[in-house]
Amino acid sequence: MDDKIKVKDIVSLKGKRKITMLTAYDYPLALLIDKAGVDMILVGDSVANVVLGLESTTQVGMNEMLHHAKAVSRAVKHALVIGDMPYEAYQLDIKNSVKNAKRFIEEANCDAVKLEWFDRCLEVTEAIIKEGIPVMGHIGLTPQTADKLGGFKVQGKDAETAKRLIEQAEALEKLGCFSIVLECVPDKIAKMITEKLKVPTIGIGAGIFCDGQVLVTHDLLGLFERFKPKFVKRYINLSELILKAIQEYKAEVIEEKFPTQEHSFTIKEEELKKLGELGS
Ligand code: KIV
Repeated sequence: MDDKIKVKDIVSLKGKRKITMLTAYDYPLALLIDKAGVDMILVGDSVANVVLGLESTTQVGMNEMLHHAKAVSRAVKHALVIGDMPYEAYQLDIKNSVKNAKRFIEEANCDAVKLEWFDRCLEVTEAIIKEGIPVMGHIGLTPQTADKLGGFKVQGKDAETAKRLIEQAEALEKLGCFSIVLECVPDKIAKMITEKLKVPTIGIGAGIFCDGQVLVTHDLLGLFERFKPKFVKRYINLSELILKAIQEYKAEVIEEKFPTQEHSFTIKEEELKKLGELGS
């Protein structure tokens, strides 16, 4: 039975139940997230920070994103897989943005792409949607252009900037975006946007009123410790558990407790004897 989630399923969840979304960048975590029944998996450019040890998401390009997206798609049977367009693929290289979006679908088997808001966002979004590629919008704090927004700060905290966010959301919906991420937006503004739109809003640091929620998986698992935004809930501290396991391994190797006979392969005595006769 094909129980693969489609874009129309995500849209029809609005008003019925909350929509779940998490990031994944590799096969094993994508497998687990899919097994847990999460609705959407974002191959986020946050891979730059939480996996590749880079300072900014603008430091990853199409090649890295496709590499990770292919691994995620190989694992996923159920969730909608969304490829996060890296900065260089549509903000730096506007004329190739449609071609780059197509690569996520055709080469990496993604179901949709996500674009962060920027000054030519509407033009690029329209061109990609015209090619039949589903687009998820992303407004509020857009990390790729955070320097233009005054840093990693909550957006839409005054009437003027809040109005701008509402207008951006409405314009993206009008162009045909199937969903919009609201990042670091006051809860009441997220509520207003959610109520105005027919397509679902997915919040991250946007309060309790959005239609769905996304988190960076490494944040919820406690696998990224460099910083912890206020909106993150850590469900487990995997860093601690992994460190303990690695320390135990190291100690056991040094103390000759691992490997044991149980982890060894054997050869028959007669073959050993033959080997001796062969002159070794
Ligand atoms: O790259 C990412 O992980 C994201 C989410 C935070 C929405 O864009």
